[in-house]
Amino acid sequence: MATILAISGSLRAKSFNTMLLHAAVAATPAGTTIEVGSIKGIPLYDGDVEAASGLPPAVVALKDRVVAAEGVLLVSPEYNNGIPGVFKNTIDWLSRPATDIARVFGDRPFGVIGATPGRGGTAMAQAGWLPVLRTLGALHYSSGRLQVAGAGKVFDANGALVDDTVRGLLETYMRGFSEFVSKHRRGR
Ligand SMILES: Cc1cc2nc3c(=O)[nH]c(=O)nc-3n(C[C@H](O)[C@H](O)[C@H](O)COP(=O)(O)O)c2cc1C
Repeated sequence: MATILAISGSLRAKSFNTMLLHAAVAATPAGTTIEVGSIKGIPLYDGDVEAASGLPPAVVALKDRVVAAEGVLLVSPEYNNGIPGVFKNTIDWLSRPATDIARVFGDRPFGVIGATPGRGGTAMAQAGWLPVLRTLGALHYSSGRLQVAGAGKVFDANGALVDDTVRGLLETYMRGFSEFVSKHRRGR
């Protein structure tokens, strides 16, 4: 049905967003292939580095994986009511050079979900992604929403999803997003 690349925006070993990513993999409907990408190893964006030697290998590798996928799922934490810098930095690298934006992002389906131990469910960070995705010409999936609050109780100490309500919402989201990716995959 579709191929999705899911990326967690946290580097933490015990990241709730990485836990949510793995739960999303388990909740992905049959027929959809979901792969896991990472922001690990992506350096801070530096225009001088880009001018001198082009994109770092880790950026090229992740960019290739985005291009190979039919849809991308961003699993985003929220920092100070916005997008964490480390995650935005990755997307900023992927948007270079600007002449490549249409190939990497243009009309490619993107979904955004997130988890926080707080009460807001990453709503502000998810809203923060909207102008970024719009600027890059990506197709944002807006028919479904998943904002996981109180993550400390939603996942157990081993990172397993233990909240059946969230599991149901996640399954609904992944079903809807998979259909969206399938419907809007490029070249169709
Ligand atoms: C710099 C910083 C700012 C934060 N700001 C928010 C915030 O605005 N809203 C929120 O819900 N949580 C906030 N948090 C708490 C994060 O949601 C929490 O650390 C979460 O576990 C991060 O995601 P992760 O578990 O995937 O690493 C903040 C954490 C940090 C480190």
